[in-house]
Amino acid sequence: SKPSDANLRSPICCIMGHVDTGKTKLLDCIRGTNVQEGEAGGITQQIGATYFPAENIRDRTKELKADATLKVPGLLVIDTPGHESFNNLRSRGSGLCDIAILVVDIMHGLEPQTKESLDLLKMRNTEFIVALNKVDRLYGWKTCRNAPIRKAMLQQSKDVQNEFNMRLDQIVTEFKEQGLNTALYYKNKEMGETFSIVPTSAISGEGIPDMLLLLVQWTQKTMIEKLTYSDEVQCTVLEVKVIEGHGTTIDVVLVNGVLHEGDQIVVAGMQGPIVTSIRALLTPHPMKELRVKGSYIHHKEIKAAMGIKITAQGLEHAIAGASLYVVKPDDDLEHIKTAALEDVESVLSRIDRSGEGVCVQASTLGSLEALLEFLKTPAVNIPVSAISIGPVHKKDVMKASVMLEKKREYSTILAFDVKVTPEARELADELGVKIFIADIIYHLFDQFKAYMENIKD
Ligand code: GTP
Ligand code: MG
Ligand code: NA
Repeated sequence: SKPSDANLRSPICCIMGHVDTGKTKLLDCIRGTNVQEGEAGGITQQIGATYFPAENIRDRTKELKADATLKVPGLLVIDTPGHESFNNLRSRGSGLCDIAILVVDIMHGLEPQTKESLDLLKMRNTEFIVALNKVDRLYGWKTCRNAPIRKAMLQQSKDVQNEFNMRLDQIVTEFKEQGLNTALYYKNKEMGETFSIVPTSAISGEGIPDMLLLLVQWTQKTMIEKLTYSDEVQCTVLEVKVIEGHGTTIDVVLVNGVLHEGDQIVVAGMQGPIVTSIRALLTPHPMKELRVKGSYIHHKEIKAAMGIKITAQGLEHAIAGASLYVVKPDDDLEHIKTAALEDVESVLSRIDRSGEGVCVQASTLGSLEALLEFLKTPAVNIPVSAISIGPVHKKDVMKASVMLEKKREYSTILAFDVKVTPEARELADELGVKIFIADIIYHLFDQFKAYMENIKD
């Protein structure tokens, strides 16, 4: 490869879609693992990350005769839950990625969280491809294990091909109803304007080579600048977890730069910036899932892009969704501590200046941002006067009660994916502050709208 090619980082790809469309199973199929069957209720409830080295992608796509075109070192794939209550994790995953795979079950078409995922992708202008999964469920499907999809399709009877085409047409129509043009990837003449559909089976592997190749080729072709490796550390906290033998750890996605063992780091915490140093840099083995307990590889340093588990002192109150900063010898620590809270401040700055508006509370910074974005959209347009992260406490109710004097209907707390303490609930009832709780953004809006209409009558 040319010298310039050596300087690309791995693209980050987020896999999204409605519950049980086969997101985790697709990754299992590429990894040769069985993560999905180990999940409680077969449902993903955490955000995960897996690194696929280029050599594995090359091997998996060789039937498509594409080895000359691989320039990226690999692919980092982020798995997200499809269950409706995990909008925050879908939001966090989609916020990090260069490209996404939107998984649709060919037997079901577009479902509620398909549409919610589409809204997140549209909001951030993220490129994506559609994996039209479970083609093996077409009646009479003939298995062609791990074959490129066109080759597999040629093996199918006329009946299977007809059913496939009928379902495909229906789903293309459903996408059109969402304002999107889609087409089978090998018939798509306007990539970039028309989104590509790759038929797949996570069980027998048909279409997996096509999906991998399309992801890598499309990112290499259109995102060279974005994928050019930069020394500046760009790193986001995915999850905060207690791991036996390691204490509280953070799972992070390193988007750019290098992390070293011993690096002094700063992360936003619920009680202010956390300053600590990296005790251990751990990754799962390549092709293994970060969120699944297993044996870890210890590293002295790691270069982006990668999913990493960091152990360090004092991570108990780290905020998932926040950025991680590295303090270099010449850096001013105070300056970085301020920067660490910039995420929080940028959110703060979205608060209505008039001082009139509802209070908004969410579980993580990422979900709070998604909620504020949503409340700002013209169709919704609900002003916000205060925000908070974490459970609703008495002090939050006190803050919301200030609005009772100004604009009664705004003495409301919209609580997204957080608990309300019994004391806070009691005080709210006493003062006449409304608290709406939901784990889906849209439900909060529906509740608030119904309440506003009720007030008017
Ligand atoms: P959540 O993470 O909970 O949203 O689900 P998911 O999208 O990750 O789906 P998952 O991988 O858990 O698969 C759901 C079910 O569909 C499991 O029983 C899988 O075995 C099955 N499944 C997934 N992909 C395929 C496929 O291509 N063909 C068939 N026949 N079944 C599939
Ligand atoms: Mg899953
Ligand atoms: Na599932």
